[in-house]
Amino acid sequence: MGPKWLKDAVFYEIYPQSFQDSNGDGIGDLQGIIRRLDYVAELGCNALWVNPCFDSPFMDAGYDVRDYKLVAPRYGTNDDLVRLFDEAHARGIHVLLDLVPGHTSDQHPWFKESAKADPNEYSGRYIWTDDAFWGMEGRPYIAGMTERAGAYMLNFFASQPALNYGWLDPHKPWMSAIDAPEALATREAIKDVMRFWLDLGCDGFRVDMADSLVKNDDGCKSATCAIWRDIRTMMDADYPDAALVSEWSNPAQALCQAGFHADFYLDHHFNGYNTLLRDYETEGGDHSYFLKDSGGSIRRFLADYLPKYEQSREYGYISLITCNHDTPRPARTLSAAELKLAYAFILTMPGVPFIYYGDEIGMRYLDVRTKEGGYQRTGSRTPMQWSRDEGMGFSTAPAQQLYLPLDASDDAPCVEDQLRDADSLLSEIRRLTALRHAHEDLQADAPFSVINDDEDAAPFVYRRGKMILAVNPSSREKRFEDGLLAGKRLAYRIGEASLADGCLKMPGQSFAVLA
Ligand code: NOJ
Repeated sequence: MGPKWLKDAVFYEIYPQSFQDSNGDGIGDLQGIIRRLDYVAELGCNALWVNPCFDSPFMDAGYDVRDYKLVAPRYGTNDDLVRLFDEAHARGIHVLLDLVPGHTSDQHPWFKESAKADPNEYSGRYIWTDDAFWGMEGRPYIAGMTERAGAYMLNFFASQPALNYGWLDPHKPWMSAIDAPEALATREAIKDVMRFWLDLGCDGFRVDMADSLVKNDDGCKSATCAIWRDIRTMMDADYPDAALVSEWSNPAQALCQAGFHADFYLDHHFNGYNTLLRDYETEGGDHSYFLKDSGGSIRRFLADYLPKYEQSREYGYISLITCNHDTPRPARTLSAAELKLAYAFILTMPGVPFIYYGDEIGMRYLDVRTKEGGYQRTGSRTPMQWSRDEGMGFSTAPAQQLYLPLDASDDAPCVEDQLRDADSLLSEIRRLTALRHAHEDLQADAPFSVINDDEDAAPFVYRRGKMILAVNPSSREKRFEDGLLAGKRLAYRIGEASLADGCLKMPGQSFAVLA
């Protein structure tokens, strides 16, 4: 199933702009991340995903890459990144970079060449029609901006032209087949980028929009999956310890067909993950499971999750996340007490969990002006709140120079305060990650099954390996009695959960682990 280290991996996602500024220019950088590696290790995270840190005009926060092989000067140098790998490895931390294979910036030299009228080596690197007037069969495109006669396809924002991996069903002269030389050349160019960073010491990649490579791919994305399998073959042969994590959110494709080691369970409206933490867009109120007394049921999560889990568990891992740089922070609607239960669940489920920087202290979703193509995502991208010092320990730059404003409220959560408080969210999450590392049954592989999901009078009870876990997000006491509990002892609890005479008592908002 891939690299062994994934079995006990707990990831920490770092948005480099906002984590730690080391040179006082108001924006985070690689030296800043290095400075905080001990914090990451003490949090119990043994792997990092760093959002794109490559040269870019930053029209989409770096997901518009201008040079795949160069660290953006605002973050430091390639040598700094290699130092980050080394320093992380010295602490037992693996580092994934963010690979953006579906598009580049329109400032990338490949694109500039491809936009020239005279045919050249890069003419086929992107998807172009041969006529500037007839659009692109309903797909987003830009025409009229280039010397080359034709329209080029977009993969995301206007600044992100789609790289050409070919079409499953090339039915126009300008569409490349998936095995056309120009489509194969794109694939080799991306492999070359991967090799470049793997050779320098990175431990793999989180892959952006991994399902977006081949156009007109059929419903099961067979041609895109075939490309990833080819890439996985390269990894297995030459970098067997490196990991590939997909932004796909379809484990049947990403894990079973494409060969990714892990796939994010993303926040999509009304999917299982959404019902746990972020159900607020549903008509009729927010029934998020972890929102106290919301009336939400774990069954909505299970109905979506269980078939995916059963289908893919032999192939790879589903990654539950606290949040990411694209979604509202969970603290937008959940209190610290609710977040503790949600994180306890995320950190005791199978697969490979991810904590988004700042979620461990309950950083808020802020109402801030858009930055670098963030739009409503920007509120989840504000600077890390380390201390009560000026700049909250993020930066010594004057407030108006910061990448984004800090949380200005008097009770803005910060690391320093929460480290001093055994009852804080941060302290809880540190205990939870320690618990996971201490028990193989709570890690990626141990089987998961449901013991009780009838929550009228009982908590939700689930099994991981030989351990039994229970959670009660409501305000009412619930009880669970069963012969299964015989011989078990409480190994961890949140709230006053108790176990006596084969009866598990779970007061409102509690969590228990029985070993
Ligand atoms: C997904 C990334 O997470 C998001 O931040 C980005 O804007 C798009 N892909 C486009 O690369």
